[in-house]
Amino acid sequence: MDFEIIHGEALEVMRGMADNSVDAVVTDPPYFKVKGEAWDHQWDKPAQFIEWMGQLAEQWQRILKPNGSLYVFASPKMAWHVEGAVRERFAVLMNIRWQKPPFSTKAEMFRKSDLRNYFPASETIIFAEHYGADNIAKGEAGYAAKCDELRGFVFEPLRAYLDGERERSGFTPRQVNEATGTQMAGHWFTRVQWALPTAKHYATMRDLFNAQGGDYLRREYEDLRREYEDLRREYEDLRRPFNVTAEDQYTDVWTFPTVQAYQGKHVCEKPLAMMEHIIKASTRPGAIVLDCFAGSAATGHACLLNGRKFIGIELSKQWTDRGRFRLAAVRPHGNTDPVACPRLAAQGQISLFA
Ligand SMILES: C[S@@+](CC[C@H](N)C(=O)[O-])C[C@H]1O[C@@H](n2cnc3c(N)ncnc32)[C@H](O)[C@@H]1O
Repeated sequence: MDFEIIHGEALEVMRGMADNSVDAVVTDPPYFKVKGEAWDHQWDKPAQFIEWMGQLAEQWQRILKPNGSLYVFASPKMAWHVEGAVRERFAVLMNIRWQKPPFSTKAEMFRKSDLRNYFPASETIIFAEHYGADNIAKGEAGYAAKCDELRGFVFEPLRAYLDGERERSGFTPRQVNEATGTQMAGHWFTRVQWALPTAKHYATMRDLFNAQGGDYLRREYEDLRREYEDLRREYEDLRRPFNVTAEDQYTDVWTFPTVQAYQGKHVCEKPLAMMEHIIKASTRPGAIVLDCFAGSAATGHACLLNGRKFIGIELSKQWTDRGRFRLAAVRPHGNTDPVACPRLAAQGQISLFA
């Protein structure tokens, strides 16, 4: 089973989860007195809500893997406070603005002369990572990360080989620069912005080091290249995944259409396309994604369509059951029966909400 929706209270359930156990937290918590639902009125004062948000952030910080991503939805009014609570424990990368299309909010119905400020027709999505994420990934939490250092760390075996051979042969980096007609020695022999020499430059270096006789740089270039590819994959695995293409909404303003009203719709159901966008951009296949305010299970649906595993937490028994039902009908995009997939998923929705 690639999903689980736990019927329970988010904080309580998360406190029972293991450290570093999820690859991404993608969640849409209560907004504080925006919706008419009881769950959005659990706190009297904003300060209580913000304190609760801080407790959630504490759990997210503990259970999210070092290279994981955090996405938290917030209402325009409380976004600033929610971000503050998140910022206490995470490096906020940006606030994404989900700009809802015309006629999908009540904006058009409002008499404009009654407005005392601009009509809120957007939602904020706070996108964050662990502080010092790149260094945490190599087990050195505590100071601001530099991707470059991680790169140097991962490629160290190759760098050490090249620099070791250079030292043994007695040539200086400057002599290598002269022989190759480049300024690349700093990149080949030190950790800063480390780079693999080309086959041509490797051959030139070998000629230089062995000019007075010797047996330096014995490894074949192809062998180095293969090791480089292996290490590069390791490097990519350590980094926080992030992938968008020109076809995606790759800026920080998104315009996904809202979910059309239908009987039995969750009041806050998020568009599947937007959730798929987040999941594909910020997780790898096989990743474990947590949504601790699962609602209609839109996040879970996006996960299963794209070969990710999903853990949901939901306070309402009714929505827990509906979410489980929805997810049980999902077939991944890669299913061999392309006709059956959307039909099955749609059937799940129809029988669920009709
Ligand atoms: C804003 S909605 C999430 C909607 C969801 N993103 C979707 O697309 O359907 C928040 C959900 O969290 C649930 N909830 C509220 N307080 C909770 C709590 N303390 N623990 C777990 N779930 C809670 C509510 O029942 C509601 O379904």
